[in-house]
Amino acid sequence: MKLKGLILSGGTGTRLRPITHTSAKQLVPVANKPVLFYGIEALRDAGIEDIGIIVGDTAAEIEETVGDGSRWDVRITYIPQEAPLGLAHAVLTAEPFLGDDSFVMYLGDNLLRDGISDLVATFVNNRPDALILLQEVPNPEAYGVAECDDDVVVRLVEKPSEPKSNLALVGIYMFTPLIHQCAREIKPSARGELEITDAIQCLIDKGKRVEPHVVEGWWKDTGKLEDMLEANRLILDALEGDIRGTVLESEIHGRVVIEEGASVSSCTVRGPVIIGKRAVVHDSYIGPYTSIDCDVEIRNSEIEHSIILAQSKVIDLRGRMEGSLIGKNVRILRLDHKPRAYRFMVGDNSWIGIV
Ligand code: G1P
Repeated sequence: MKLKGLILSGGTGTRLRPITHTSAKQLVPVANKPVLFYGIEALRDAGIEDIGIIVGDTAAEIEETVGDGSRWDVRITYIPQEAPLGLAHAVLTAEPFLGDDSFVMYLGDNLLRDGISDLVATFVNNRPDALILLQEVPNPEAYGVAECDDDVVVRLVEKPSEPKSNLALVGIYMFTPLIHQCAREIKPSARGELEITDAIQCLIDKGKRVEPHVVEGWWKDTGKLEDMLEANRLILDALEGDIRGTVLESEIHGRVVIEEGASVSSCTVRGPVIIGKRAVVHDSYIGPYTSIDCDVEIRNSEIEHSIILAQSKVIDLRGRMEGSLIGKNVRILRLDHKPRAYRFMVGDNSWIGIV
């Protein structure tokens, strides 16, 4: 059975503003690589060569960054969705691309440590009508929630206020073409969307076999700042050190990647840390779980457990920065001139914590 892949990359990313005012949430890098690329690689590694990507308002940026898929040896087809009307609506929008093929649907902001190759093999071997992934979470009300009875899914509810279990639906699903009929039959939810959770419930109501799999390795939906930082921590945890840039008079501890053209001087760097191409880091402390993207400049500062996106500068920061996500081309500087005062030029929905 040849499966297709369907990646959803249309969402607006309201919970990651202001970063998503200028950039698609699926393109925010984790360990210096856009979240979306991890999903493409997971599908490719599971043997899927034909991938459709659902795009919305950020289509141009996604197409430019991802390209035609040749760098992963896959074929990518872009499928515009007229509005973010829900995950089941996205499936219907993709129907001409999917045809009669079974497929893996992958939410573009989800990350799964162990990939999906084993799960795809299980789907192909067991041939259920759908296969869903589940994981226990402390806050099930923020997800689709599954009630299971001895390995059988009895009921699925989208973001219930009183969850019947703590098993959340992971944003990766495997479907046969039966899902199209169900996506057509359901009605929009309270948030006005055609929910994939309801479409899968419709399969269950029709007596179809929906096979649940509880995922053992970590899973992250990177839709919020804390989740993004946590995903960054989890990915960096598996990082292998590799120093290609120049290092001068610095102490490098643990697993640290310094990419080509980057320069680190008079610093202490405690891995896991990744420092991107052409970044300049001088007279600074870079602590564990920090991703510094290409062309960033950091001087006389201390940064830990943070993500700094391309072309930003952090200079002469007195206190230590931690738990932060700094967008592209941001400047954080110390000003010498009087009056001595804080000066901000900050976008909508930004967030600043001072000490
Ligand atoms: C979506 C699904 C939800 C699922 C979650 C996983 O939620 O509707 O069932 O648990 O993805 O990431 P959303 O991101 O639309 O809030």
